[in-house]
Amino acid sequence: MNNMKISSRVWVEVDGKALLSNFRNIHKSVSPCSVIVVMKANAYGLGVRDFANVLKEENFPVLAVAELREAMELLDFGHEVMILGSVLPEEIACAVEHDIVLPLSNLEMAKRINAEGKRCKKVVKCHFVVDSGMGRLGFLLDNAFENAVEISKMKNIKLDGIYSHFPIAYKPGSEFTNSQIKKVCKLIADLATAGIHFKWRHIANSDGINNFPESYMAPFNAVRTGIGLHGTYDLEGNKRVDLKPIATLKTRLTEIRELPAGTSIGYGQTYVLPRKTLVGVISAGYADGLPLALSNRGSVIVNGCLCPILGRVSMDYTTISLEQVANPQLGDEVICIGEAGGYKIALEDWACLKNTHPYDIICSFGGRVERFFYND
Ligand SMILES: Cc1ncc(COP(=O)(O)O)c(C=O)c1O
Repeated sequence: MNNMKISSRVWVEVDGKALLSNFRNIHKSVSPCSVIVVMKANAYGLGVRDFANVLKEENFPVLAVAELREAMELLDFGHEVMILGSVLPEEIACAVEHDIVLPLSNLEMAKRINAEGKRCKKVVKCHFVVDSGMGRLGFLLDNAFENAVEISKMKNIKLDGIYSHFPIAYKPGSEFTNSQIKKVCKLIADLATAGIHFKWRHIANSDGINNFPESYMAPFNAVRTGIGLHGTYDLEGNKRVDLKPIATLKTRLTEIRELPAGTSIGYGQTYVLPRKTLVGVISAGYADGLPLALSNRGSVIVNGCLCPILGRVSMDYTTISLEQVANPQLGDEVICIGEAGGYKIALEDWACLKNTHPYDIICSFGGRVERFFYND
């Protein structure tokens, strides 16, 4: 068996320093609110353990993920771990055993969690989830008060937090978002009057932090941020917090050829060379997260030069023009997302070309894309 390390042909470099700076800038910008760091889906695909390691020494109340398996991976980080959204019945026993903070999104779940708490002689910390307009999970505002009162009587549940979520906080000043904030504030006040107090009260995601100051003011005392840590903003809305992109996607030049005029490039023959052209092939394709929408529209950077993509992006390879590159060599580093030579290709540029949002781009980096964190 040969243990020689085979280096990756396509990789993401994650700038730990930028990640830390993004966390601190977000924290400062919402102070005195605390920041709940959202690292679901493997920290949006970049590698949750490395991501958590960078933030390990920072001051935040809880790490938030989407599901039990993700939560289990973070138990040794010395921070509380919470599941946002929902738990399945068969996940409750394991979650309670490991003291994971659980969401309460319906009464049936609350009863099951309470029963499991009783069986284990534990009081389970939970956050009460309010659906104030997301239309996804949680108690509707109409019956949230009564349900919170009922749950507050369950002896093996501690109502440690209450939260809601925004569907359109990327639209500054949206009436809908303002009214969600008002309604959740009223619910929190009504529950306080009834003697039900929550240690943590939160509604803002990254868009809320950038666009809705009321979402990180009293009664709220925490925000939840995921994409902000990545240094990315929504395509719409304000960029209030100073954030830096943390991810650079790179690959290598694997072929260099001069091809004659009239040569068609790639599947579908969507590009035909108008003249004799120095053409390169890079070892990354849609399996690595390059959107098909970059075909004949996107560019990459080779040796500080912008090189247009020719023809259709394929699974493992993408063809580029090397006309602008002085002396390209096999194995040269290619920047797919990042900057060099005064050129910048951002996640947001790909999101625009693909007619999607930056989350989709980050979460689409493929399985063979190696993730490297550096701190320099
Ligand atoms: C309930 C909840 N809160 C917070 C977040 C973090 O959102 P963002 O990455 O936009 O900050 C998410 C992610 O989708 C979420 O589902």
